[in-house]
Amino acid sequence: MILVTGGAGYIGSHMVKLLLEHNYEVIIFDNLSMGHRASVPEHVPFIKGDLNNHDQITQVFKKYAIKAVMHFAANCYVGESVNHPQKYYHNNIIGLIHLLDAMREANVKNLIFSSSCAVYGRPPKRLIDEKTVREPISPYGRTKFFSEKIIEDYSMAYGLNYILLRYFNVAGADGDGKIGEDHKPETHLIPNILRHLQGKQKEITIFGNDYPTTDGTCIRDYIHVTDLVEGHLYALSNLLHKKLNREAYNLGTGRGYSILEVVQKCELITRKKALIQYKERRPGDPPHLVANTRKALKELKWKARFEMDDMIHSAWHWFLKHPDGYPIDKDGR
Ligand SMILES: NC(=O)c1ccc[n+]([C@@H]2O[C@H](COP(=O)([O-])OP(=O)(O)OC[C@H]3O[C@@H](n4cnc5c(N)ncnc54)[C@H](O)[C@@H]3O)[C@@H](O)[C@H]2O)c1
Repeated sequence: MILVTGGAGYIGSHMVKLLLEHNYEVIIFDNLSMGHRASVPEHVPFIKGDLNNHDQITQVFKKYAIKAVMHFAANCYVGESVNHPQKYYHNNIIGLIHLLDAMREANVKNLIFSSSCAVYGRPPKRLIDEKTVREPISPYGRTKFFSEKIIEDYSMAYGLNYILLRYFNVAGADGDGKIGEDHKPETHLIPNILRHLQGKQKEITIFGNDYPTTDGTCIRDYIHVTDLVEGHLYALSNLLHKKLNREAYNLGTGRGYSILEVVQKCELITRKKALIQYKERRPGDPPHLVANTRKALKELKWKARFEMDDMIHSAWHWFLKHPDGYPIDKDGR
């Protein structure tokens, strides 16, 4: 059985769907602080629990025969982390330690960890490879960096097997339009542009247009959520078959887009015109973050298949089918 923490979240729910399609048995652990019960099938065992509650997570390992954990549960907004570091250090770090301790007590040895390109901070190179020095510049990035270090230490001391996956900017929605991105509040670029073009938001805010880039806006590497979860599946299979262990991989496309380029693509696809408001740069935002993806290709045999247009089309399809996001369930999520 595979335990997916944060399985009712944006990426976690896509992961659950793919695992089920590949006949894995899955169990979801999520406190629904950001996730949605409706994003995962009714028949999959679902534990509404909080990683900050050691007892709740320990009970899961006592009840189910878990072979591996895919750990998505975390808070993940760079901007918010600058203003509320306490929330991030508590949830992302203490939550991880409770999970690792519960795994250790139950002798569960395999972990796939959701890390982030935020661990690289302001990288010295244009294309970031996995050996690039990890010098995060936001509390969020530091929680991912410290998490990686904690996992490395637990691995050395207690024999934990792990793969760290450092995602770039995840976007898009599953092809069948049933699951997608529904964050409240939403801070990610593509959903914000599309919500605006759908008439749900007055304008788009771009933080900083004086970065040292071609059009002054930040450049990011966007990866389709379907590609991303496929990368996890490859990592999981390699970990379970003892082919790879104690490795980190960038999951991105290796192609950067400026914020303005993404806005223009969204305008073209939706045939609507966006209203942009520029604000000051946000602390913690580096100008240029693009992955070198060679290691994932060579060792995981994984490569992103989808392009920016696919991400926007699939996200737009999801928003048109779900103008108000997921239905609210009895838990209020
Ligand atoms: N979305 C991106 O672009 C991106 C990029 C890099 C890394 N990541 C990482 O990927 C992971 C998933 O991101 P996402 O976009 O799906 O976020 P999300 O907020 O949609 O999902 C996170 C899920 O974890 C749950 N959760 C949070 N704290 C919890 C706790 N203490 N106990 C139990 N459940 C808890 C939330 O309810 C939510 O369902 C995160 O670790 C994030 O840092 C995301």
